[in-house]
Amino acid sequence: MNKAKRKTIIAGNWKMNKTPAEAKVLISEMIPLVKDADCDVIACVPFVDLAVALEAAQGTNIKIGAENCHWAKSGAFTGEISADMLKSMGIEYVIIGHSERRQYFGETDVTVNQRVRAALDAGLTVILCVGEQKVEREQGITAELCRMQTKVALQGVTAEEMSRIVIAYEPVWAIGTGLTATADQAEEVCALIRDCIAELYTAEVAEATTIQYGGSMNDANAEELLSKVNVDGGLIGGASLIAEKFAKIVEAASK
Ligand code: 13P
Repeated sequence: MNKAKRKTIIAGNWKMNKTPAEAKVLISEMIPLVKDADCDVIACVPFVDLAVALEAAQGTNIKIGAENCHWAKSGAFTGEISADMLKSMGIEYVIIGHSERRQYFGETDVTVNQRVRAALDAGLTVILCVGEQKVEREQGITAELCRMQTKVALQGVTAEEMSRIVIAYEPVWAIGTGLTATADQAEEVCALIRDCIAELYTAEVAEATTIQYGGSMNDANAEELLSKVNVDGGLIGGASLIAEKFAKIVEAASK
């Protein structure tokens, strides 16, 4: 595998944090700290923060993403946001299938696939999250689980469209727990997801796909995780809310 064939991407997932005023401050703090990054830098922010984040990041190397989108183009879906709405305001990225959506909001592999399709149709790039829960790792079904989540989510996605798919391997037991997967565990699963993509498409598509690790990644452990050949970046929760910490991860990814 040749890491040079794919982009390294460090993305923040702010989750349900930061008001628009706070978002403006955080993006402004990030700008000077990540301006020399040798990787892609994305901040995925709550819907209400998108406009100010876009404005604050304009003309910089920080790209803005959303944290979810609906599968329909429009309609009677109270409280939802469509991929076209995001695209029309200048958003480029959207996280889909985060484990918190699966865990708390009834997201299934099938609805993840529908949202992926809608996002691609709207012209967005998807950060698709997959990952096992603690009990699934203990049962020894991590590989099957991650392969299945990947396969169902990518149903109907063409090889050409894979250039707009980023995969984030996020073991649920490592999210927000301070319990990071070891670099070897992250590498093992990122590698098997890449193999799964090679089976679905081609080795070339697999080699060109960015696969991130997410789950308690921080300024102290990023360098080791990112040193692994199949770990092409990070999806960062808690540490993305502090500009200095996030910037240190970007720095580690730029080495
Ligand atoms: P933490 O970095 O807070 O563990 O969150 C990871 C995550 O869920 C990113 O999407």
